[in-house]
Amino acid sequence: MINGGKPLVGQVAVSGAKNATVALIPAALLANDKCALENLPLIRDVQVLMEIIEQMGAKVRKDGTGTLEIDSSGLNHPHITNGKVKELRASYYLLGALLARFKEVSMAYPGGCDIGLRPIDQHIKGFKALGAEVEIEHGIISLKADRLVGSHIFLDVVSVGATINLMIAATMAEGTTVLENVAKEPHVVDVANFLNSMGAEVKGAGTDVIRVKGVESMHGSTYMVIPDQIEAGTYMIAAAAIPGGDVIIENVIPKHLDSIAAKLIEMGVEVQFNGDSVRVISKGRPRSVDIKTLPYPGFPTDLQQPITSLLTQAEGTSMITESIWEGRFRHVDELKRMGADIKVEGRVAVVEGIRGLSGSKVSATDLRAGAALVIAGLMARGQTEINNLFHIDRGYENLEGKLASLGADIKRIKY
Ligand code: EPZ
Repeated sequence: MINGGKPLVGQVAVSGAKNATVALIPAALLANDKCALENLPLIRDVQVLMEIIEQMGAKVRKDGTGTLEIDSSGLNHPHITNGKVKELRASYYLLGALLARFKEVSMAYPGGCDIGLRPIDQHIKGFKALGAEVEIEHGIISLKADRLVGSHIFLDVVSVGATINLMIAATMAEGTTVLENVAKEPHVVDVANFLNSMGAEVKGAGTDVIRVKGVESMHGSTYMVIPDQIEAGTYMIAAAAIPGGDVIIENVIPKHLDSIAAKLIEMGVEVQFNGDSVRVISKGRPRSVDIKTLPYPGFPTDLQQPITSLLTQAEGTSMITESIWEGRFRHVDELKRMGADIKVEGRVAVVEGIRGLSGSKVSATDLRAGAALVIAGLMARGQTEINNLFHIDRGYENLEGKLASLGADIKRIKY
């Protein structure tokens, strides 16, 4: 429940990156050993992954500070029966990790946010190229290989998931794997760094070509996950959303925020980087801008929905082109309930800036749609009630608590 109109002022710290964490946890299973992952976000997707790997025999210990110890020496079979794999997309990283360790894996087909078709054909193409046989029957995907052998794999589309999954799967293959046309997102680099800290030989992460030289075995490691660039971007947008906003967002890697900072500056928002923090100051009504989502370092699709809320208030007309997910405009109908003037035609949304949204009862349809509605609620006149918070809890640690600490009038009524 949000009573809108209060500018955000103060400091807020960003948690560890969700989309890195959900790959690091499965990657930790590569070693028959203990790993410690630090700075993990306290979010639902992490909780679900923990439950899945615990049920498979891994010992998991979590402390209150965001460190997770995973001892996977007791994990002795690669068949995942826990139906919760369907709750998140990233469970597909268990396929790559367990294939690498056991040369075999089976689990239910992964789920995740409903933002369009979410094929995994590039993952499968890569697993096959490494020597795995792939079978999908009755909703269960099974991979099996006598041996995994390094290969040359050219991705048809730039896919974060396929890049990370194939990097993981190739760590212990015989010989070298060359992955081309890969994703360059910060979390790709983060997972590569973790794999290397476990004894893998991965080079080139962050460029278009990644080389993985297979090693015999991997060992445990202690590793700290990078800050979440999408959470940071969400607070940057929220800070800009209400005139008078002045927020210092701490624990960020400025380079990762280049595209969102550039757009906010183009809108007339003040953005100042200082070491590992960024200060965002609202300068009144923002100007309209055009946005096209692209793989990193382009504007991230995961911030498209939150920034749409801000653009509903901008002076002028904005054109938003979603080039990654064809179904990522489901937040638009909810924003319209609040008075927004948005027309969607295929992958393009045209937003006519209006003066003032009005509070309403709305529903989060997916994770970033939820964040978009929270931002809209912060901007709106009167009260906004947002339902289906479980989507938000999948990827934001204590969103309402952090916003309340910045002066927002927001509270969770029901869990
Ligand atoms: C990751 O999804 C993120 N999820 C998404 O974040 C994010 O939106 C997306 O990358 C793009 O940045 C996780 O990291 C868990 P992709 P992923 O493979 O890896 C097509 C969020 O809000 N494609 O990079 O599943 C696909 O249809 C979530 O935090 C294929 O055609 O995305 C899409 O158009 C939502 N075949 C494009 O590639 C494949 O085999 C990019 O997808 C794989 C993907």
